Amino acid sequence: MRKYLIAGNWKMNKDAAEGESLIADIALAVGKQTDVDVVVCPPYTGLESASKSVSDNEIELGAQNMHPAAAGAYTGEVAASMLRHLHVSYVILGHSERRTLFGETDAFINEKVLAAFENNLKPILCVGETIEEREADKTISVVTTQLNDGLKGVTAENAENLVIAYEPVWAIGTGKTATPEMAQEVHQKIREILTDLFGADAANGIQILYGGSMKPENADDLLAQADIDGGLIGGASLKAQSFIQLVESAISKS
Ligand code: PGA
Repeated sequence: MRKYLIAGNWKMNKDAAEGESLIADIALAVGKQTDVDVVVCPPYTGLESASKSVSDNEIELGAQNMHPAAAGAYTGEVAASMLRHLHVSYVILGHSERRTLFGETDAFINEKVLAAFENNLKPILCVGETIEEREADKTISVVTTQLNDGLKGVTAENAENLVIAYEPVWAIGTGKTATPEMAQEVHQKIREILTDLFGADAANGIQILYGGSMKPENADDLLAQADIDGGLIGGASLKAQSFIQLVESAISKS
């Protein structure tokens, strides 16, 4: 049985002190339960203090990006091993904001995915179509390419630590959510692609998250879908109350 995973993507929000206080509030409510995996992804500058804030509870830490190289002349970048030293367990890769605002390609994201596995980080690989692609009926072909190219060289054994996030670009931060049925259709297809790549056993163990304006009001219906195993939450992860409600919604279905 797959556990639900609720991950907060704080993006470029919360300084270190604000992050500590948010984690403390989350920990008080859902920090001891183990039915649902709970992950917070602060900006790099908040990771060190966050690693202390999660040391006595079950909340895990994620980073929002990393560079694939082990070290070197990459001004402004951070390596996987540096994240590991801060007790980071997950890393969001290929977020649509990285793809569109910073020009990241599937090939570059693939390098990062492989480096994450080499360093025992669990990649949360984000895929999803733009509104133009959906209207042109290209959703499945876009997601298929992003998965096949982003996961090149990944083994079935690696796949045990892989997380996928389906995030329709048109739903991110816009208040527009995919209907549960629309999301499930793509999630099911993603699981088929993962089955082709890694076999049914591995594919059935992979958590596939939905992201894009997920909030307490729509979480129950989304999480009720067979292939939706949690959420990657932006806006609603910045307030303890809404994030806790999302975790509680997943606990109630576990
Ligand atoms: P949102 O962001 O929940 O604010 O739409 C989700 C994401 O970008 O991961």
